[in-house]
Amino acid sequence: MKPWSSRLMLAVGVGTMLLLVGIPWAGPAAAQAPASTPPSGQNAGVAFKNVTTSTLKGLTVSDFLGSMGVMAAALGYDCADCHFAAGTDKVNWEFDTPKKKTARRMVEMVAGINRTNFGGVQMVTCWTCHHGRTMPSTTIALDTLYGTPNDEKNDIVVPAEGQPPATEILDKYIQAVGGAERLAGLTSFIATGSSLGYEGLGGGGSFQIFAKSPDQRTTQISFKDHPERGDSTRAYNGRAGWIKSPRGLFAEFELTGSELDGARLDAQMSFPGQIKQNLNNWRVGAPDSIGDREVRVVQGSGPRGFIATLYFDSQSGLLLRLVRYSASPIGRVPTQIDYSDYRDVGGIKFPFKYTFSWLDGRDVFQLTDVKTNVPIDAAKFGKP
Ligand code: HEC
Ligand code: HEC
Repeated sequence: MKPWSSRLMLAVGVGTMLLLVGIPWAGPAAAQAPASTPPSGQNAGVAFKNVTTSTLKGLTVSDFLGSMGVMAAALGYDCADCHFAAGTDKVNWEFDTPKKKTARRMVEMVAGINRTNFGGVQMVTCWTCHHGRTMPSTTIALDTLYGTPNDEKNDIVVPAEGQPPATEILDKYIQAVGGAERLAGLTSFIATGSSLGYEGLGGGGSFQIFAKSPDQRTTQISFKDHPERGDSTRAYNGRAGWIKSPRGLFAEFELTGSELDGARLDAQMSFPGQIKQNLNNWRVGAPDSIGDREVRVVQGSGPRGFIATLYFDSQSGLLLRLVRYSASPIGRVPTQIDYSDYRDVGGIKFPFKYTFSWLDGRDVFQLTDVKTNVPIDAAKFGKP
């Protein structure tokens, strides 16, 4: 298992992480310019030189990079464990290392297991066997048997008996953050603040969020004390989304596939009044807890196997956590946002603090100021 920090250093170019933490994918030694931007709409099998597995070659470029994050997380690896000299300026992504060859075989094996045993439903993933280890364990340790029970959760929420309907929980949330009428009057906002990093890593950035109803959102981060990190932007204009991350695997690229669905949900969630329309097939699971708070668990589905689980404080009705999952052939790609420090801005409650966690890192954002219903130039949401 690699230490957290080294994994952060090698954060994959999926976008979010580079953008939010501003950590170079190739480490400080990397002097070369990022790869040229992949043409949007190209499959990974075409956009890359040596992507050949039956299930990964058909992915969009951003979903392919998400699947790289899934592999790394499932084995406790960073990119350099499978890719020659990743983290240096000598990196050769297409070169087949022995581990990469094994991984390719495993990708086909996972597809085969699911096809022949589970009717093509994704029941087995890299995580199922590896659980953060290179060599899957085969026997339970007796200390584990008599230790704390395993509390890992299923991605898919199973509807539980005796729960209020989803609409009631979502309505309570709408009420808690200001009520339908006030929320309908919220047409835009600009939020400013700073990124604190996580447990001493990353941070030191200042950010601005621009949001326009119903579904446009752009986050810009700059590092005044470290101009060499460059400014990063994540933009979604209601149809298309982009990541600009000067030190990412790609300096700039268009979000596609499941990653685009995630960007859309983030934008829509900026305007809570419309929450019920953001996803479909809402279901309510058994109550759970986050820290000392009891939470109601509500899950909805989007296109292309996209799902999101929302955790609402049972008492206050406020949203405490959102976990969204993008689909990939080798396991879902999770992104988690924890909301806290709700403060009133003109009758509407905004979470002034949120923690953003993804496969390669974590960052805490502290808002200092929110201005509502301000004009925002349409260009802010376009290609950065
Ligand atoms: C467990 C091993 C493993 C890890 C860890 C891993 N990869 Fe990969 N990577 C692969 C395999 C296997 C392929 C080829 C997939 C195929 O043929 O469908 C690949 C292909 C690639 C390619 C395409 C290269 C080309 O031009 O053909 C890129 C880019 C890439 N990986 C980036 C990353 C990044 C960034 C990370 C770190 C998050 C990472 N990989 C982590 C196994 C891995
Ligand atoms: C059914 C269980 C199972 C699943 C699912 C599984 N693996 Fe494995 N994996 C193993 C076992 C067992 C080994 C060790 C034996 C071996 O190396 O052949 C292993 C070994 C590996 C190794 C070699 C490690 C080394 O140090 O040589 C890599 C890389 C790997 N797996 C990647 C993956 C990836 C990526 C996925 C998901 C696409 C995956 N595995 C899914 C069981 C699994």
